[in-house]
Amino acid sequence: MARSECRTAEFSVMPLGARRRYFSATKLKTKEIAQGERRMTKTEAVGAPASTDALEIRDSRTGKSYTAPIADGVIRANDLRQIKVDADDFGLMSYDPAFMNTASCRSAITFIDGDKGILRYRGYPIEQLAEKASFLEVAWLLRNGELPKQNEYDQWVHDITFHTYVHENMKRFLEGFRYDAHPMSMLCSSVAALSSFYPEAKSIFEPEQRYISIIRLLAKLPTLAAFIYRHNKGLPFIYPDNDLSYSENFLSMIARMSEPKYEASPIFAKAIEVLFILHADHEQNCSTNAVRAVGSSHVDPFSAVAAGVAALYGPLHGGANEAVLRMIEEIGHVKNVPAFIEEVKGGKGGRLMGFGHRVYKSYDPRAKIVKQLANQVFEVVGMDKDLEIALELERIALSDDYFVSRKLYPNVDFYTGLIYRAMKFPTDFFTVLFAVARTAGWLAQWEEMLLDKEQKIARPRQIYTGYDERPYNSALDHRKKVPKRA
Ligand code: CMC
Repeated sequence: MARSECRTAEFSVMPLGARRRYFSATKLKTKEIAQGERRMTKTEAVGAPASTDALEIRDSRTGKSYTAPIADGVIRANDLRQIKVDADDFGLMSYDPAFMNTASCRSAITFIDGDKGILRYRGYPIEQLAEKASFLEVAWLLRNGELPKQNEYDQWVHDITFHTYVHENMKRFLEGFRYDAHPMSMLCSSVAALSSFYPEAKSIFEPEQRYISIIRLLAKLPTLAAFIYRHNKGLPFIYPDNDLSYSENFLSMIARMSEPKYEASPIFAKAIEVLFILHADHEQNCSTNAVRAVGSSHVDPFSAVAAGVAALYGPLHGGANEAVLRMIEEIGHVKNVPAFIEEVKGGKGGRLMGFGHRVYKSYDPRAKIVKQLANQVFEVVGMDKDLEIALELERIALSDDYFVSRKLYPNVDFYTGLIYRAMKFPTDFFTVLFAVARTAGWLAQWEEMLLDKEQKIARPRQIYTGYDERPYNSALDHRKKVPKRA
């Protein structure tokens, strides 16, 4: 019988009061646990509220009881290590595939309350930032924790604007891809390749080097994205125009043809700005976790951000807005919507893409903003059959008990795809737009991780389920040449 089936630890949460702050049954022995204790003491010293609550645990294997302090609503997983059956035991671990209930860091950047539909960057509600801020202002805010003063903002915008060019060899690098290469595959490789152009970026503990790397990444991501778009279309690359704003310049590099100066549609420029703000950060999601984990090895930020792009490429993460569009194409006509909804409810037609969220259970605050934005964009480009289908899907789903009872509301991806489609971006390019915006959040999270004294190289534990030791006994002849197949 497996250990977990027959042995239990009983938990109860109760105020600790004047009780001891650390486990009572065994003394701290290993270096790691001792470090854990020092870290805890240090955190309290810098101003975290002192814990008066604790978790009492009784280990039924030994009959011993333990007390684990609770601070900020968590116990430290390392505290469990002192729960042992004997001195040789490694100590108790928690098992949490997919980090369903594990906080991997302390972060002051983004706050989400999924039940109440709240999203804030550094305390500022996303609704206010989307309405009033610029994307580069938000990028500054995410990194620095406060809104920029005018002189700080001017310098920031200047520095980003004047680092938008990429080395000419990057053009040749991108030209090496097939015409039908997936844009996210190209973006991931080209961000990683940038690392080779800036070897000094490895000096991640020099503030000036971190600053210039952050500037370069924010500046060059739109350029790479636009070059990728043009390569896939077979169009010549358009160099950045330093007279334009961040979003106007991006649209210029995407769409400019023979005109000497590109003038972006104001509503398109506004849409890009708002969508970039909405996607700039979303606390510890899959790609941010990838950037933090890879960055924890102290690699340069170009390589860490490339890992974030790779994570975002996956269909369970950045690809949902693409899936919404493909679903709408499949439905084909507004008259087919009721039948499609019935199929979803009956479990035959897959899920209603763009509905539901792991965290937001009342509504996704970004979806409200995107819906308004979609209306503005469609006022300019006109209503099309895709939007009609989307509105009908939304109308039926919001009044249908299947969706209401499961708290399934439109998420941010339900409308973003429609806006990008209206702006004539190809469907497989949507995730690239997400990546350009999320770079701001990845970089803020990467730097926060680096400067957090509690962080070390990310190195999870495992439950080993393989063989016990066995002797090597191979029948292979390693000198034999592998014969060619006919
Ligand atoms: N359509 C139909 N039924 C759904 C949907 C949906 N979109 N989402 C969840 N359900 C049902 C699901 O079948 C289950 O029903 P039951 O209790 O009868 O088995 C119940 O709702 C709970 O589903 P779950 O899978 O346990 O919920 P989750 O929190 O694990 O999943 C989700 C969240 C976003 C993966 C899921 O809602 C989904 O697949 N949505 C469609 C894909 C999508 O739009 N993804 C974009 C997320 S927003 C981007 C971001 O911020 O990362």
